[in-house]
Amino acid sequence: MKRALITGVTGQDGAYLSKFLLDKGYKVFGMYRRTANPNFWKLQTLNCLDKIHLIPADLSDASSILEAIRISEPDEIYNLAAQSFVEASFAQPLSTADITGLGLLRILEKVRQINPNIKVYQASTSELYGDGQKGLLNEDTPFAPSSPYASAKLFAYHTAKNYRRSYGIFVCNGILFNHESPLRSLEFVTRKITNSVAKIKLGLEKELKLGNLEAKRDWGYALDYIECMWLMLQQDEPDDYVIATGETHSVKEFAQEAFNVLGLNWEEYVKVDSKFIRPEDVMYLQGDYSKAKNKLGWEPKVKFKELVKMMVDEDYKKWQDCLAGKQFPWDAPYYVSDLNIISRTKRA
Ligand code: NAP
Ligand code: GDD
Repeated sequence: MKRALITGVTGQDGAYLSKFLLDKGYKVFGMYRRTANPNFWKLQTLNCLDKIHLIPADLSDASSILEAIRISEPDEIYNLAAQSFVEASFAQPLSTADITGLGLLRILEKVRQINPNIKVYQASTSELYGDGQKGLLNEDTPFAPSSPYASAKLFAYHTAKNYRRSYGIFVCNGILFNHESPLRSLEFVTRKITNSVAKIKLGLEKELKLGNLEAKRDWGYALDYIECMWLMLQQDEPDDYVIATGETHSVKEFAQEAFNVLGLNWEEYVKVDSKFIRPEDVMYLQGDYSKAKNKLGWEPKVKFKELVKMMVDEDYKKWQDCLAGKQFPWDAPYYVSDLNIISRTKRA
């Protein structure tokens, strides 16, 4: 039986990957960080919390990583843990650099020292490209990070390549473009929109405040992208791959489509609030996944409209169930309203 250690197991991708690997017959170990309140609703939703083995550890704490690797004795490590919210990286640049950047270095050092045969997947990102890009972006497009988050991920990207060349460690960078799902956290724009659309339809909210409506993203479905992480580690040689849908849409188009799903006109509800505008933003992302298609045999299955509908339908159903008194693991009822957060102001 193969053994996998997933860092960031409580996140969107960590939950889907846990289920994917359990279905493949893996023994799955999930590294989670200690929090004051429980944070396992995504794993519970997919019915796999009681099937994985949880190890408390933190990417900023090298000794806890050592423990996690010793306990799990993995064949494969999937490094999904990160401070992953770009906007928060402007407010917390140092901890972002520590977790999102140095975190991988701490893992690779332990792998090098304990068992250099462990294969490692690194969650790289389309944010590496930064602002000002045009056309389809691929593995050869130069990177120009536009946030502390992207700079930290660029450090990790190069660290992975360096450990591959210097020590022969099997480590792959998955340059994943934005991927979403009903398990997406509420701070990201897609789920923020779909949750609000559901609440507005049910009379629980009156408006939706957003920032930059013109930014374009290549949005795919998280579950489609999980398979690629695994495929990369099953190849004979480690390599880096772009994973995307090849389509791009603006935040405005996402909002328009999401309100449409429930028969609402987005222009009546969406307001722009400058507190959600970032000091620097990436205006355009669109990925070319031909290398993954040719070498891994991978293609995305879910495209834009289907993704938006899936997310709106799920949030709408959950709010209806919640109002009917049903109880289930879910984040939305406990989410602090954006209106209460005053630290997110546009910097000069
Ligand atoms: P996510 O939902 O934000 O999950 C991030 C995970 O990292 C959570 O489990 C979080 O734990 C954990 N974490 C944060 N700080 C940690 C620390 N100091 N020590 C240990 N764990 C820590 O992110 P995601 O969307 O699943 O993305 C997975 C990875 O892919 C991330 O590295 C992200 O940067 C990258 N990525 C995501 C996308 C995307 O569109 N989703 C695209 C490209 C790359 P808590 O639950 O306790 O916060
Ligand atoms: N979050 C958020 N909230 N974003 C908004 C809002 C808002 O109210 N209004 C407009 N946006 C714009 C952001 O300025 C950005 O241009 C775009 O919507 C997408 O923002 P996010 O959903 O927060 O995602 P992201 O693209 O910054 O980052 C995500 O994708 C990256 C891959 O490209 C994250 O998952 C990263 O971890 C990931 O690396």
